[in-house]
Amino acid sequence: MTMLPTQVKCLHRLLQLKHICWCPTSLGKAPSSRLVLGIETSCDETGAAVLDETGHILGESLHSQKEVHLRTGGIIPTVAQQLHRENLERVVQEALERSAVDPSRLSAVATTVKPGLGPSLGVGLEFSRRFVRRHDKPFIPIHHMEAHALTVRMLRPVAFPFLVLLVSGGHSLLAVARGVNDFLLLGHALDEAPGDTLDKVARRLSLIKHPRCSTLSGGQAIELLAKEGDRTRFPFRTPMGQTYDCCFSFAGLRNQINMTIMKNEAEEGIEQGTLLSCVNDIAASTQHTVASHLAKRTHRAILFCKANGLLPSNSPTVVLSGGVASNEYIRKALTVITDATGLSLLCPPAKFCTDNGVMIAWNGVERLREGKGILPPDVDVSYEPKARLGVDMTAQVKAAAIRMPSVRMKIPR
Ligand code: KG4
Ligand code: ZN
Repeated sequence: MTMLPTQVKCLHRLLQLKHICWCPTSLGKAPSSRLVLGIETSCDETGAAVLDETGHILGESLHSQKEVHLRTGGIIPTVAQQLHRENLERVVQEALERSAVDPSRLSAVATTVKPGLGPSLGVGLEFSRRFVRRHDKPFIPIHHMEAHALTVRMLRPVAFPFLVLLVSGGHSLLAVARGVNDFLLLGHALDEAPGDTLDKVARRLSLIKHPRCSTLSGGQAIELLAKEGDRTRFPFRTPMGQTYDCCFSFAGLRNQINMTIMKNEAEEGIEQGTLLSCVNDIAASTQHTVASHLAKRTHRAILFCKANGLLPSNSPTVVLSGGVASNEYIRKALTVITDATGLSLLCPPAKFCTDNGVMIAWNGVERLREGKGILPPDVDVSYEPKARLGVDMTAQVKAAAIRMPSVRMKIPR
């Protein structure tokens, strides 16, 4: 079980990014008076954090279920729910203790209520409802993907509007963030999300048996092995080459990869469950194709935004976040596109790309500042396993059918 660090007193050490040097707005400032407790339980991380209005993290706690789900070969919703039940109270208590904040000092409690695994969301919501009633605090329901999209603003003053690519185990989407609760959805996953694909490929390759990968998520394992692999050995087709929109599809790619794995198992005379000798090359080819697909859809989204004046002409920005955004190779692939189109790419450090309570608390802070979506303690709120982000513009993107100038995906390794 992974426990992440307690109090982030200075963000500098965490913000060592290759592409951008972060300079958080909160550094050196005294904590301001309004404090928000954030609670995250939408998938397999139980997270809580207390933030002040400047984005200063007073205390946080995170319990990851990753090891359990790795052993069972995927997330079983009832198991995830049970683990949230067992850990949430302690995680919240730890975040409060580490921040030295009594619940009476909180200005609000923000909790993920959509989208996510129903049973997991239910645990966070039930706990939060009891908590806000007991302490008579306002409640701020949070959209998990909005939180991923806005985390970057906790770290640097990124002005609206900006383009955001969110890639995780459950989602893949491109949207224009125009305000705290104002998004235009340009593209989404038609089947599975890239993190899900990487996790499934890693399972099919039995990477849990690989001595260097046994504790890593599928995406992390593929990234590690890809470093020593030949990405040209298995030239998988980049998905949706003939579909001129910004949606994503990974199921067909996974099928191509599975066929390749089966063929190589037959050639090597080994059974499913045994590590292939070409595992590094499969990892590298898989990662390259996932990265190229994400980059190409983002390229089209940038051109759509330019054609429709959706981004500022002065320093337009693409933000990349979500668990899969931790991947350095994918970050480099996106840099190829942003360099070619004159945009800058911002990626929060990996710690803030994956699920955590901090990003939920930050979304609560942003909403509190603007007075948006703040509910009284006794209001009835339900969770929503499926919830689209913002206004759906995917039909307009498809109708525009933008053909892209060819950009060589020469991604540095
Ligand atoms: O955002 P997240 O923590 O949870 C969801 O909301 O899904 O993302 C988890 C996903 C997993 O599928 C994991 O394999 C993937 O992010 N991931 C990565 C990397 N680290 C985590 N994928 C590619 N490269 C990585 N370094
Ligand atoms: Zn997430």
